[in-house]
Amino acid sequence: MRDKLLEVREKALKNLSDVSDLNQLDDIRIRLLGKKGELTSLMKGMGKLSKEERPAMGQLANEVRTAIEKEMEKSKTRLEQQALAYKLKKEKIDVTMPGKASRIGHRHPMNIVIEDIKNIFIGMGYEIAEGPEVEDAYYNFTALNIPPGHTARDEQDTFYVDGEGDLLLRTQTSPIQVRVMENKKPPIRIIAPGRVYRSDEVDATHSPIFHQLEGLVIDKGITMGDLKGALEVFAKQLFGEDTKVRFRPHHFPFTEPSAEMDATCFGCGGKGCRICKDSGWIEMLGCGMVHPKVLEMSGIDSSVYSGFAFGMGLERVAMQRYGINDLRLLFENDAKFLKQF
Ligand code: DAH
Repeated sequence: MRDKLLEVREKALKNLSDVSDLNQLDDIRIRLLGKKGELTSLMKGMGKLSKEERPAMGQLANEVRTAIEKEMEKSKTRLEQQALAYKLKKEKIDVTMPGKASRIGHRHPMNIVIEDIKNIFIGMGYEIAEGPEVEDAYYNFTALNIPPGHTARDEQDTFYVDGEGDLLLRTQTSPIQVRVMENKKPPIRIIAPGRVYRSDEVDATHSPIFHQLEGLVIDKGITMGDLKGALEVFAKQLFGEDTKVRFRPHHFPFTEPSAEMDATCFGCGGKGCRICKDSGWIEMLGCGMVHPKVLEMSGIDSSVYSGFAFGMGLERVAMQRYGINDLRLLFENDAKFLKQF
C-alpha cells in the first residue's frame, strides 16, 4: 500500500510538471482524484488494512493527496499565465497600422467669406448685431424712409407673411440698423450679417434667399471722410493692400448723400479680366450718410449725431473670390462642389 501510494505520488508529480494545457490537467485530476481515480481507489482500499497499519497509511494517503492537489494548483496557475501571455501577444494591436480616416466636414464658402469680413470689422472695433428674418414692415421699410406707397417698396419683390402687408421676410439687413439705433445710445459701431429674401426666380445670378452684411456707425461729428476711410481699409484687408476704391453717386432712401463703392479688381489689379468683365473695377457695396429722418425716427438727435451706413451682398464676394459662375452652387450643397474650399 505504502509503495503504491508513493508510486502514485511520484507519477503524478512527474505528469503534472509536464502538463502543457488545462484540458490535460483536468484529465490528470480525474484520473487520480475522480470517483474511480487511482488515489481515490487506494483510499477506498484502506478499510482492508489492519487496525495497526491504518492510521499511518491514512496519514500518508492524505499527505499524497495534499501534495498532488498543491502541485495541481501550481500547474493551473502556470498554465493560466501562459494562456494569458499568449492571448496578449496574439491580440496585440499594431498602433502603427494606418487607420480608416473619417470624413471631416468643413466650412461652406459663404461662411468663410462672412467670417473673414466679420473679423476685419471686429478688428476695427465693430460689434456684431442681429435681427429677425421675419420682420415688421415698419423696420424693413417705413423706418428706413420708405413709407407705405413709396416706389422703393415695389423694387424689392417682397415675401409677405400676412395678408395685411405688415409682416414680411426681410428684404435687406438694413432694418437691423433701426433696431440697434432704437436700443443703443451712440457711439454705435456695428455690422449685421444675415439672410435676406426676395421673390426672385432662381437663375445663375438670382436666388430668393441670399446674404447681406449691413454696417452702421453713429457718433458725434461722423463725416463722409470717416465712411470713405473705414470702407477703404476694409477693401484693402479683404482684397489686398494694393486695392484702390472709388465712390459713385447713387440713391438710397435711407442715406443722404448716397454712393456705391467699387474696388479695383483683385484678379487683375485694375487692368481688366474675366472677373471684372474687363472694367478693372468690381462693385462692392452701397453706402451713405444716414438720413436725418432715419436718425430721428429711431430716436437719435440728428442735430447732435451723424453717421454712415453701408450694405453689401455676400454671395457676390464669394463668387468673385472663388471664381464661382453660378449662384445656385452656393445653395445646392453638392458635396463634390463644396469639397473644393
Ligand atoms: N439695403 C440696401 C440694399 O439692399 C443696401 C444698402 C445700401 C445698405 C446703402 C445700406 C446703405 O446701409 O447705406 O440694396
